[in-house]
Amino acid sequence: MAGHSTYHFKNPVVRWFDSRLPIVSLVQGQLTDFPTPKNLNYFWTFGGIAAICLVIQLISGIVLAMHYTPHVDMAFESVEHIMRDVNYGWFIRYLHANGASFFFIAVYIHIFRGLYYGSYKAPREVLWMLGVLILLAMMATAFMGYVLPWGQMSFWGATVITNLFSAIPIVGGAIVEWLWGGFAVGNPTLNRFFSLHYLLPFVIFGLVILHVWALHIPGNNNPTGVDVKSARDTVPFHPYYTVKDLFAIIVFMIFFMGFVFYAPNMLGHPDNYIPANPLVTPAHIVPEWYFLPFYAILRAVPDKLGGVLAMFAAIAVLFILPWLDTSRVRSATFRPLYRQFFWILLIVCIGLGYLGGKPAEGIYVVLSRILTIYYFVHFLVILPLLGFIETPKPLPASISESVLKGGSGKPAGAAAQAEKR
Ligand code: HEM
Repeated sequence: MAGHSTYHFKNPVVRWFDSRLPIVSLVQGQLTDFPTPKNLNYFWTFGGIAAICLVIQLISGIVLAMHYTPHVDMAFESVEHIMRDVNYGWFIRYLHANGASFFFIAVYIHIFRGLYYGSYKAPREVLWMLGVLILLAMMATAFMGYVLPWGQMSFWGATVITNLFSAIPIVGGAIVEWLWGGFAVGNPTLNRFFSLHYLLPFVIFGLVILHVWALHIPGNNNPTGVDVKSARDTVPFHPYYTVKDLFAIIVFMIFFMGFVFYAPNMLGHPDNYIPANPLVTPAHIVPEWYFLPFYAILRAVPDKLGGVLAMFAAIAVLFILPWLDTSRVRSATFRPLYRQFFWILLIVCIGLGYLGGKPAEGIYVVLSRILTIYYFVHFLVILPLLGFIETPKPLPASISESVLKGGSGKPAGAAAQAEKR
């Protein structure tokens, strides 16, 4: 990206500008002409979809902030004011609240795509780790955003989660008071959460720029996991993937708008329409759906500190994933054993999500423990071992061969062709 542009623009104004600040050639090189594997499937559209979600959250959030008041006596009412009095306020708020959910849907699909096709492996480790940092920042942002309407779930969710830090030996109590800005969740807490909830999305934006930068050094992985070998394996990003991404974004928006207009409260909790009351604890304190698998892991461990550590370890393990997977083959398409463990992991994660929404008692706790153990066994035992015991299927000689000769699942080299004859 650095250095002098090799583009020669016909328009003299563009040429003049670009030789002084090469933004036009940057766009041309990184977005228009960028060589992209020609076999990417629709799972590769979710990065772009996530980027659109981030922009929607930023814009709708900025408008909401114009009408919202971060004070314990006024926050709940200011949200009701947005819903009832502000022109299209209901739309902006439902867009933002459901937008958070759809952002997580897109990013979770994006992550599982990476897990399936081995996109986290060399040379894309830094790209993957930046992704994990983005996920952490998204979680912090979503958690603090949910506190802002100052409903019952806002208040009690904030109380439960901030209290987790009290499990840290010796300094835990001091850390929690420092987080609160007082001796309980209160006005200083709401104020700083609002401030950070406004700030963090811009940090995420910066991380996304680095993420895409780190992507554009090695280029995209692809469903075969085989490296790009020649120009024949790629097509220019525009118009091929701009059009494909746009189509996927439109389909995604249909589902998203379906929720915004027809079921805007389905993903939320009714208790958050009750103003926060520190004297009345709700029967069940549950986080938003996208936190439920982590919540299940937190509660699966009987010890409080152990639960907190397990919850953070569930994400930390993703951070070191590139070094836990010992297989040299990227795509699960050619890894018969890994492919099965991938689907088990997906079911386990969905199962944890289900259990996180259930009361922490009886069979639910037992199942949470089993699934939590399996989650860690997958990453820390199965993945390292698989690389040694699995015999991968033969890889296609190149992306072009896999596309042109019989699909990505079959060996498609010249030898295979000769065999057929
Ligand atoms: C704000 C959230 C995110 C945005 C906007 C974003 C954006 C993108 C975009 C535009 C791409 C290229 C298109 C594609 O492959 O889908 C990409 C690729 C990638 N992202 Fe993300 N991403 C986000 C979060 C994450 C997270 C949380 C992870 C993993 C923990 C991750 C891991 C990856 C990987 C490994 C690739 C390379 C894909 C490949 O070529 O196979 N991303 N991302």
